[in-house]
Amino acid sequence: MLKSSSKSHPIGVFDSGLGGLTVVKALMRRLPNEDIVYFGDTARVPYGTKSRESIIRFSKENVAILLKQQVKMIVIACNSSSSHALAALHEIYDVPIIGVIEPGCRAAVKATKNKKIGIIATPATINSYAYLQEIARLDSTIKVLGQACPLFVPLIEEGWLTKPVTVAIAKEYCKQLRHSLIDTLILGCTHYPLLKPTLRKVLGAKVKLVDSAEEVVHDVKDVLEKKKAFNLKTHKATYKFLVSDEPAHFQKLARRFLGFDIKDVERCNV
Ligand code: DGL
Repeated sequence: MLKSSSKSHPIGVFDSGLGGLTVVKALMRRLPNEDIVYFGDTARVPYGTKSRESIIRFSKENVAILLKQQVKMIVIACNSSSSHALAALHEIYDVPIIGVIEPGCRAAVKATKNKKIGIIATPATINSYAYLQEIARLDSTIKVLGQACPLFVPLIEEGWLTKPVTVAIAKEYCKQLRHSLIDTLILGCTHYPLLKPTLRKVLGAKVKLVDSAEEVVHDVKDVLEKKKAFNLKTHKATYKFLVSDEPAHFQKLARRFLGFDIKDVERCNV
């Protein structure tokens, strides 16, 4: 159990940049009494094309930043970081830390009927085999097909969510997945929920899209339940946003992820 004073402490969330805001949005909606401190490592984004060593080092530094904010738990709202750094972070820190891989896999395994699951993600996440391993652990009879989609993050940050060029690129990336007749697709990158309409168009309405942002809320609730660390039901949540690069750009793009404007974004050096 956490100290009773910790109940009022915020939940810490970090991502390489903006994508983790899809997780923040889900947390805001489903846990309206919980304060959140978000750190976006905008100076070093993208993580999805970086080495394992760099991703682990950046992730440790991000945790240190959030611990200074006295967070009661940490959510790694970044698939690239979750797949490479979660185990290393668990070895170092006592604070509960959860990633986005396990929740996404659990939901996909539950959703698939034909036992064929696709994963789209950054090159770093695909090359880590984290999704493959977790799905195999849950059900070794499931066939899994991964596809790295390095062009998606820049297209999403540009706001080109449904442009013909984005649809064409999505068609190319999804070719193998369509041939393999997957019935479930894990959106293995926190940016990708914004591409749902395009992916539905390319893959058809029958393929289930698993959004780990939604799934991770269950795990956050589990941790808070086990630690008896829920904030008071009468508390109205406050939110703090920290970034490692210029705040104005983050602030401008955040609307696309959250659906509303955020006022104060502070710069925080890593
Ligand atoms: N947030 C990252 C992820 O979920 C995508 C952006 C990046 O490459 O850093 O993998």
